[in-house]
Amino acid sequence: MKNKILRIKKSLYVLHTKVRSLFGLLDAQDANSMLKHGVFAMHLDIKKVSKNFGGIVALDKCSLEIKEGKIIAIIGPNGSGKSTLFNVISNIVSAGKGKIYFSKEDITGREEHEIAKIGISRTFQEVRLFKNLTIEEHLKVALSDSDYKLIKSFFYRQPNEDDRIKEILEMVGLKKPVSTLSSELSYGQKKLLGLAVAIAKPHSILMLDEPVAGINPELRKEIFRIIKELNNKGESIAIIEHDMNFVMNLAHYIYVLDSGRLIAEGTPREVQKNKRVLEAYLGK
Ligand SMILES: Nc1ncnc2c1ncn2[C@@H]1O[C@H](COP(=O)(O)OP(=O)(O)OP(=O)(O)O)[C@@H](O)[C@H]1O
Ligand SMILES: [Mg+2]
Repeated sequence: MKNKILRIKKSLYVLHTKVRSLFGLLDAQDANSMLKHGVFAMHLDIKKVSKNFGGIVALDKCSLEIKEGKIIAIIGPNGSGKSTLFNVISNIVSAGKGKIYFSKEDITGREEHEIAKIGISRTFQEVRLFKNLTIEEHLKVALSDSDYKLIKSFFYRQPNEDDRIKEILEMVGLKKPVSTLSSELSYGQKKLLGLAVAIAKPHSILMLDEPVAGINPELRKEIFRIIKELNNKGESIAIIEHDMNFVMNLAHYIYVLDSGRLIAEGTPREVQKNKRVLEAYLGK
């Protein structure tokens, strides 16, 4: 009987999702709710994506997957196409060729805000913050998951919002008064705020573009710990990083890019031993 009710519940969710998806209404909360009810497993499937900028081949038929509850890392030398891959997924630049599926749904070419709405939250290599907004304002905007809530958030205090802001700031270890303007933060603190903003947005995938680049060793360790902690709570994470050592103890699976091509993939151990990686990436 219990199983029958569960099956009916799942079928209703699937139907509900199909209808919402048909009208382009599917959002991060639907996705999270469905994940919670076991209706689907989050799965981002990138199929043979290519991107050229004029004569430059930034991505050449790259296929990779982000699976629920896993940390995947994308490594490779400068200019190998790592950020372009994130930009194509979030449709900041359009994919020249190839397809992107979010839990089997084709999301190729969806508007940037729609991609964010279905729950793909990301940080940028060059932190993007609003100079004239405080830490608290950044997080309030991020926590607002619809335009209506966004407008409302400027006029009313949302219940539990202050607690959530405090919780996120504690998690990323940003120890500054919430009234501090982002322009008053150091480089490392800006990186932490960028991470806090990505975490605050309703999401089912976090994509982090070099979260520890230019960061001192102490803070690197701290960010390593934060990413591990997020993953322990069940978050699915994709991280771009140059430093193979950093991702070795962090990622479950690693993709290696070189000149826009995927030259290797596997567990950290497999990738570390891969001859092509040693030659192309480590120059050995
Ligand atoms: N908007 C753009 N217009 C023109 N060329 C671009 C653009 N974005 C990226 N490229 C080019 O595409 C290639 C891949 O760049 P990308 O930024 O993806 O590399 P990356 O692996 O992230 O490098 P890095 O490690 O330095 O961040 C580079 O040759 C870069 O100059
Ligand atoms: Mg980059």
